Amino acid sequence: MDFSQNEICRLFGIQFPVVQGGMVWASGWRLASAVSNAGGLGLLGSGSMKPELLEEHIDKTVVATSRPFGVNIPLAGTYGAAHVDVCLQKKVKIVFTAAGSPKIHTPRLKEAGVTVVHVVPNALLAKKAEACGCDAVVAEGTEAGGHNGREGLTSLVMWPSVADAVSIPMIAAGGIGDGRAMRAAFILGAKGVQLGTRFAATVESTAHLKYKEACVQADGGQARIYNLQHMPIRSLMNDYVKEFCSLEAAGTPVEELQRLRGKGRSQKGVFEGDVNQGELVAGQICERIKDIPTVQELMTRLLDGFERAAVSISAR
Ligand SMILES: Cc1cc2nc3c(=O)[nH]c(=O)nc-3n(C[C@H](O)[C@H](O)[C@H](O)COP(=O)(O)O)c2cc1C
Repeated sequence: MDFSQNEICRLFGIQFPVVQGGMVWASGWRLASAVSNAGGLGLLGSGSMKPELLEEHIDKTVVATSRPFGVNIPLAGTYGAAHVDVCLQKKVKIVFTAAGSPKIHTPRLKEAGVTVVHVVPNALLAKKAEACGCDAVVAEGTEAGGHNGREGLTSLVMWPSVADAVSIPMIAAGGIGDGRAMRAAFILGAKGVQLGTRFAATVESTAHLKYKEACVQADGGQARIYNLQHMPIRSLMNDYVKEFCSLEAAGTPVEELQRLRGKGRSQKGVFEGDVNQGELVAGQICERIKDIPTVQELMTRLLDGFERAAVSISAR
């Protein structure tokens, strides 16, 4: 398939307009380099790394692939600003920012020649990201695993709104797991797609096997948004989330709920595979995840499905 004229492929210098979302505890150098080597754009998920560890992962990615890769930085995290510094020092060429304002760091990154993409949950914030100088936006619908917008806009509603609102290219995210969904995103205005949960459940992701198996076993309805009052997160329903939600419903103060969540819940769930007491960050696309393929297998399937979907549309 020839994507040589595709805006996202040209922006990043990649073969296929497929981005592997940055993911805490799941996307280290092994996953990011595998995606980049398969022709997509791999992103290191810096959100679960201290600055020294991010440096190490950048160095390892450079060794593992000669192709473009990037770093995802949740700006509101403890090390948001420090991770921007690391990316500048290490001359990382592509940075995706999320969970925070793109106002502060985008100008600095742009001055250094970095391609900057910001993750947004609606058209208004997409416009703001464009005004800050971002080169593209990721429009992430509420189906997505991880931190979620408060309004809960679905991908189907939001993608065309974002595509119409900005002149920079839109990368669609939230609920994409195969080539048919990728084609649907393109029909709704996307120039590229970002997949999170589907890549977390591949061989190369650093997520625990029990987490990956939980994604395979879960149906979409088990991937719920919780922690609504503080910071909405979509993760799989388990004993811990049930307890959290019943305390929340009983009016437990937010501070107490945050104490229960603690600091290491996503590490416990995604990385250590504690399926009962950990936070199993994952999206509704679990509905359609039936196996744990290698990145190369997944990319081949995705692109075949994308092509087949075009044929099936034109046949109708
Ligand atoms: C385990 C996990 C961890 C995530 N961590 C982050 C993160 O650190 N930063 C971020 O911007 N998005 C994060 N996300 C969101 C993904 O980057 C991606 O945008 C999202 O998963 C896309 O929706 P999908 O899960 O339906 O594919 C995470 C998602 C998952 C499943």
